[in-house]
Amino acid sequence: MYSKIIGTGSYLPQKILTNKDIEAVVDTTDDWIVSRSGIKQRHIAADSEMTSDLAEKASRSAIERSGLTCEDIDLIIVATTTPDMVFPSTACILQSKLDISECPAFDVQAVCSGFVYALNIADLFIKSGQAKNALIVGAEVYSRILNWNDRTTCVLFGDGAGAVVVSGAERPGILKTSLHAKGTLSKHLCVPGWVNRGEVSGSPLLQMDGGVVFKFAVKVFEETANELLDATGKKIEDLDWFIPHQANIRIMESTAKKLKLPLNKLVATVDHHGNTSAASIPLALDEAVRDGRVKQGDLILVAGVGGGFTWGGALLEF
Ligand code: UT7
Repeated sequence: MYSKIIGTGSYLPQKILTNKDIEAVVDTTDDWIVSRSGIKQRHIAADSEMTSDLAEKASRSAIERSGLTCEDIDLIIVATTTPDMVFPSTACILQSKLDISECPAFDVQAVCSGFVYALNIADLFIKSGQAKNALIVGAEVYSRILNWNDRTTCVLFGDGAGAVVVSGAERPGILKTSLHAKGTLSKHLCVPGWVNRGEVSGSPLLQMDGGVVFKFAVKVFEETANELLDATGKKIEDLDWFIPHQANIRIMESTAKKLKLPLNKLVATVDHHGNTSAASIPLALDEAVRDGRVKQGDLILVAGVGGGFTWGGALLEF
């Protein structure tokens, strides 16, 4: 038994915040943001929209595209760093919104690698026979954990959700996965706050040492790609698409260059989505499926890296 993605979906909040709009908020310029990150705009959730609302819309779309119905889903995993509340999990809230009864539902907290962590878990559930049709969602409202006075971070992130349905299949599907973490680097990218006796202790806003994250991301994207290709006997030339976590176009292009991967095989949505953390890979995948770039049978490498630090990837036949 193997697992395979059989449907993708996504949702972006209606409000678009351009770099020009951000120029009115902090001391920055469109030129700086585009040249340093490739980002031109990002979507921002309405005050009334929670992570589970974004997740619900992306999920309904993925389930519809898979040809299944909500009743067929027997596992829900939500990758998010911005859950609706401390508990219950956003996955349980999503299960209720989708009116799915009693299947296991839980969140995965691996920041920008959350989607690849969740995909790996779903793959194992399906291969072991514990689930048949898993709904995997990456959903975030980063606009709520940004310090809008800190120009080094607030210009980089956006809100959105992407979802996939992963089902049992006779042919792979997901060929190989890899996951890693290095907790000693956690201080370089974190939201160091917690709820303590009814108050927030520490800071509830994102802090990042961008330079450290940048260098680490390029290093581990290359390592992850080589690890997955070596393990499956595939070559870089065999890849149809590389869909990395969308943090910064310079990170993605540097990685492609190191791997000797032509840039036309890189799916990049960071220019119009910004960095949507756990949502960025399924958002980019869904866009490439809908615009016809990704086709049945394509060999795709997805890779994530983020706070923790966490990183990993999956090599899959679509
Ligand atoms: O999902 C994973 C999480 N995040 C990432 O992957 C982000 C990884 N890192 C990056 O994307 C890049 O490091 C950044 C885009 C964050 C920064 O790019 P950089 O080329 O490393 O710039 P820098 O931090 O070296 O800053 C250069 C200058 C500094 O001024 P001085 O000290 O040279 O005078 C900053 O103060 O740019 C200044 N600066 C800005 N200027 C205008 C920093 N942010 C801004 C800004 N607008 N928004």
